[in-house]
Amino acid sequence: MRRVAQLSRCRQCCSLRQQQQWHQQQACRALNSSSEAASTAQKETHFGYKQVPESDKKGMVKGVFSSVAKDYDVMNDLMSAGVHRLWKDEFVRMLGVKEALQAGDSPPRVLDMAGGTGDISFRIIEEMSPYLRQDQGDEPIVTVSDINPKMLEVGEERAAKRFSGRALSALEFRVADAEALPFEDGAYDAYTIAFGLRNVTDVPRALAEARRVLRRGGRFMCLEFSHVNNPMLQRLYDAYSFSVIPKIGAVVANDKPAYQYLVESIRMFPKQHELERMMREAGFQAVSHTDMTCGVVSVHSGFKL
Ligand SMILES: C[S@@+](CC[C@H](N)C(=O)[O-])C[C@H]1O[C@@H](n2cnc3c(N)ncnc32)[C@H](O)[C@@H]1O
Repeated sequence: MRRVAQLSRCRQCCSLRQQQQWHQQQACRALNSSSEAASTAQKETHFGYKQVPESDKKGMVKGVFSSVAKDYDVMNDLMSAGVHRLWKDEFVRMLGVKEALQAGDSPPRVLDMAGGTGDISFRIIEEMSPYLRQDQGDEPIVTVSDINPKMLEVGEERAAKRFSGRALSALEFRVADAEALPFEDGAYDAYTIAFGLRNVTDVPRALAEARRVLRRGGRFMCLEFSHVNNPMLQRLYDAYSFSVIPKIGAVVANDKPAYQYLVESIRMFPKQHELERMMREAGFQAVSHTDMTCGVVSVHSGFKL
């Protein structure tokens, strides 16, 4: 009751920035108190600005993406005015697959986790295409993996329209939870996760799993909405996010709550340096981040050395 009262007072009288800070403080408090609490107590986590039992979050996130799967790609274009394509292009360029292939390396095994409808994997396959030959066999090279079969179904349909021959057989689609990967230790040369990590319940566990499935020398790369470093842009971005995005979601995808969750979950995600710290804690080295669009999104990179 007290939390509900606090929340409604917060919504009535505070600026968006103050509300976000308040929610982040509450999430930190909940995290600290839940780790201090006896193991019998029900742990809580955040789902957007709501506090929910940790055990419920995965199902709730699944519900969001099942609901938006068929409109997911068109919504991305509408909400970002197509800019998400540029962020994804740059992310894949930074991964360096093209340079490696030009230097004579064989195509790297990539796990594209929370890969959804395949945007990142498709870009990687396009870079690999000139170097893929039918006589290389039909072993998959890029794994698109996601907890949500509906997102992967849309991805498989898109892949079939876009690719053929070796480029198509180089892709595989696997349902999996980022927190408990069904892949062998050291199976991949690179692990990518784009706009996925903030949806995961236990980020440290997902980072540990990412590191486990990478070979020594393998690279972890995360593209995620982050924290804007320009106060003027921050105000505009907040106004746009909270006033416009849920409305576009309501009109186009007929699902306002899913897009309200989207904007709230972005604010709850750790800041750039905090995510770097978590990556180091998970054992990654040479950790760095690169902001794009003043920190609207950030690319985090680390190696398993
Ligand atoms: C915003 S979409 C990103 C899709 C794609 N990477 C892209 O950039 O377009 C987030 C994806 O994370 C997936 N996801 C959420 N929690 C997950 C988990 N624990 N394990 C694997 N995937 C998860 C969702 O099902 C959804 O497809």
